[in-house]
Order: sequence, then C-alpha cells, then structure tokens
Amino acid sequence: MSSVAIANIGSLVTNDETLGAGKIGERSGAGMVIEHGRVAWVGDSANLPEADSHVDVGGQAVIPGFVDSHAHLMFAGDRAAEFSARMEGKPYSAGGIKTTVAATRAATDDELTANLRRLVTEMHASGITTFETKSGYGLSVEDEVRSLRIAAAHTDETTFLGAHVVPAEFAERGQPGVDEYVSLVSGEMLTGAAAHSKWIDVFCDRGAFDVDQAREILTAGIAADLAPRIHANQLSNIGAIELAVELDCASADHCTHLSDRDIELLAGSNTVATLLPGAEFSTRSAYPDARRLIDAGATVAVATDCNPGSSYTTSMPFCIAVAVREMQMSPAEALWSATAGGAAALRRRDIGHLGLGAAADFVILNAPSHQHLAYRPGVNLIGQTWRNGKLIDPSGHSKQGHSHD
Ligand code: NIG
Ligand code: FE
Repeated sequence: MSSVAIANIGSLVTNDETLGAGKIGERSGAGMVIEHGRVAWVGDSANLPEADSHVDVGGQAVIPGFVDSHAHLMFAGDRAAEFSARMEGKPYSAGGIKTTVAATRAATDDELTANLRRLVTEMHASGITTFETKSGYGLSVEDEVRSLRIAAAHTDETTFLGAHVVPAEFAERGQPGVDEYVSLVSGEMLTGAAAHSKWIDVFCDRGAFDVDQAREILTAGIAADLAPRIHANQLSNIGAIELAVELDCASADHCTHLSDRDIELLAGSNTVATLLPGAEFSTRSAYPDARRLIDAGATVAVATDCNPGSSYTTSMPFCIAVAVREMQMSPAEALWSATAGGAAALRRRDIGHLGLGAAADFVILNAPSHQHLAYRPGVNLIGQTWRNGKLIDPSGHSKQGHSHD
C-alpha cells in the first residue's frame, strides 16, 4: 500500500519548528500521512486526509526514530568479567579492546553476521531506525575489510576504524611497529576498507593514537573519499577537538574531557559533539556536562556507543534517561540529540525529523509523551518502530538504506 494515515497522536514530536512547539516541534492531537515511505502531511488528527490504510494510535506519543550515530557492532565475544572487575574498582583502559580483537579474528563470517543481526534486532526494539557501525576489532587488512563488507550489507553508515588501537603484533615491536601500523592503516588497509565505508574514524586518546597519527590517518581517509569523524577526549584531553575542527569532522565523539576552548571551537564549527552516556555509565567515569556545550551553541548528539567493552547497550531510551539525569539535559534536548542530533552527526537531512518529505522513520511509544523516556527509566516504552513508512518486523533484518540514498 502506498499511503498510511496515522491518527489520534496524543503528542507528535517532529523536530520541525514550523510544525509544532519548540525546537522539537511538538504538537498535540496530531495526525500524519505517509506516502511512499515519506512524511506527506502533518496536521490536526481531526483534519486527517484519506489514505490507503489507517492506524489509530489511541492518544500515545509518536517521535522520530532514533538515529544511533556511534556504535561498534562488528565483534565477537563479550567482556562481562572486565565490567565486573571495573565495578570492583579496576579502571577502564583502551587496552581491553585487544581481548575483543582476538575473539573477532577467531570468528567466522557467519558468526560476525549473526552477532550483528542480533544487535540490530535489539536496536529496532529500542526505537533505533538508523545506525552507524564501525569496524575496529579486526585490525588486520583481512579482518577490517571483512567486518566492513558484512556491515555494509546492513547499513549505509559504515565507518573504517582500523585506528582503534595498535594491535599486539605491532605494538610489541615498539615505536617502529607502531609507525608501521599507522602506515598500514593509512595505506593498504584503507584501500581495502574504502570500498565498503562511508566514514573514517580514529581513537585519538591516551593509550590509542596521538594527534599527529590521527591527522595522518584521517587525511589519508579524506583523500580516499571517506568523510572523517573522531573518538575525542574520552579518557584524557590530548588536543583531539582541535584536530576534529581543523579537519571538519562530522562529529567528535565522547567529549568527556573538554576545556572551555574546546567548547568554543565546537560551537563555532560544523562538528557535532556526540555524547555517549553508556560509556561513562559502564566505565564508572564522570559524565560530561551537556549544558556547557548546548549553552555555548554547539550541536549535541546522543548515541549508544554499543560495544562489548565500554558500553554494551543498544537502548537509546536508557541513554536518554542517563543523559537527562547525569549530563544536565532536559528531556526534550536529549530526545532531539538522539534523533536530529544523530542525523546531524551523520550529515543527513532526510532522517531524524518528521518534517514534510522526511523518511517516515518513527516510533509509537507506549506513553502519552516523550518525557516518559527519562521519567520512566528502565521501562520498555517502545510500542512500534516504523522505517520508510513500514512497521519493522521485530525479527526482520532488511538493510538500513533509504531508497534515494
Ligand atoms: O567508544 N573508545 C574507543 N572505543 C570504544 C571502546 C572499545 C572497547 O573498549 O572495546 C568506545 O568506548
Ligand atoms: Fe566508540
């Protein structure tokens, strides 16, 4: 069927200020018509035009589908024991990534695919309609390329993260080994990865890559037509925000340790500050203050950072609740950041909102207002997740591409 009318929406969040109140464009008593997978009409439910089919949501809230702009889904194994040790006082370090690298290299393609599908099914159940995923647990030409090849069959938003950490077989040879790995990532590994990637990312932090190495790798990626994004200032501040802005990265992710100057730089740039509440939660670290960023005028996204080490969650409602409670965001700001903010971090205009012409990616909540996402933490309020105007089969695994992309 080509058109669907959604009736009796108690509260509709559009993220379009011309369609409703405030930055999230919220309106009550709303209706929406979808045609050919896009939003074709938004107005009062009482004036809802005819359509091929009709869905009455009975006064519940409808919000844009979540856009998860930061996840690491190409891995095998888990690190539950490492999490428990942290909760007993052991600090988080970048070195834990190597445990997952060993498990990922040992996994078959089918095992990596099955794990990805399991996580994507969880994401749909948490209201995520677009996700990005990085490689970064292969760290050899063969294992990075296969991670990205498998990922690209499931999402358009694939990110080459060969520069996650220096793998043991290079690191154990000291500086010459490290230099060789940086050249490999910027050379042969990038060449193989580029065919399956839209983005390039570097973990620029203590225990991972320094600013000069990150610049070299990101610049090589840009020359290969990948767009840059960066893991910045999660564990320490080594100057990654300046590099992010210098290279016009779409997003600087984590932003846990920010100086006033970093905030000024982000506010004056097109680089989105992506906050990852699950990472501070799961590493028992101090949360960044989103207020400082928002009040300075920076664009803020919230994402899951789903990965087996520092944030093993696919729940965007959980991230919203933590962002509200711990990062000084209002419920409306956190919702905007998990939808329109995520879209901005992926430089997408077709998703993250329900303005006219947008992809009809939305969530029907089992709640009368989006505020319940933070107000009722830990309660599953996701009623239905729709993508391109179709209800996602809870066990369905179609590729997350939009027809016009
Ligand atoms: O975003 N910071 C770097 N990468 C991941 C963690 C990876 C891991 O611990 O396995 C992150 O938190
Ligand atoms: Fe990450």
